[in-house]
Amino acid sequence: MTSLPSQSTVGLYYGSSNGVTQHAAGLIADALKSLTGLTLQPQDIRKANLSRLPEHQVLLLGCSTWDIGELQYDWEDQLEAFQALDLTGVQVGFFGCGDQYGYPETFQDALGILAAAAQASGAALIGKVSTAGYDFGASRAVQNNLFVDLPLDEDNQPELTPERVQRWVAQVVHEAQLPLLTETR
Ligand SMILES: Cc1cc2nc3c(=O)[nH]c(=O)nc-3n(C[C@H](O)[C@H](O)[C@H](O)COP(=O)(O)O)c2cc1C
Repeated sequence: MTSLPSQSTVGLYYGSSNGVTQHAAGLIADALKSLTGLTLQPQDIRKANLSRLPEHQVLLLGCSTWDIGELQYDWEDQLEAFQALDLTGVQVGFFGCGDQYGYPETFQDALGILAAAAQASGAALIGKVSTAGYDFGASRAVQNNLFVDLPLDEDNQPELTPERVQRWVAQVVHEAQLPLLTETR
């Protein structure tokens, strides 16, 4: 029998202007709870104390892309503090909300910016996703033909979100080697 990881093993943070990424964070928390038993309260990055982020072994960080390729505004405000963190040994999975038809040349760009910052701070990225099933021209979030995040598009493909979230959370749980609820019973 494996013991449950503590609640603080995983941190879940989001930046969201219209609530879309906030909603996605809630779906991710629900999926994580059903798979691992962990109960996470998604934290708004606007109010977060960034210095606490490295206390988590796994960070799930959400952001939307605004202003044609820019970070969501609360993330913009926190970027300097985020870049100053030492994330050595922390596994980071990004999730993003964007609009691939409206902004096809900058789809999910914010996640590329954040992922580069996390990697420069020593983080190991988890939860990379195939570009199959998306229709866009260019994205800073694509590295070696994979998205560095879970790209969600509630503007054009909302019907795909629940399955994408389920699949991604299972992938992240596997990659971070978080014990499944069935293993802890
Ligand atoms: C003015 C404006 C600019 C945007 N720029 C981008 C962009 O460059 N890339 C992208 O993928 N989505 C872009 N979007 C789409 C938003 O990221 C998308 O609507 C998202 O779901 C908003 O999430 P939020 O409510 O969590 O902030 C833009 C939307 C607006 C209104």
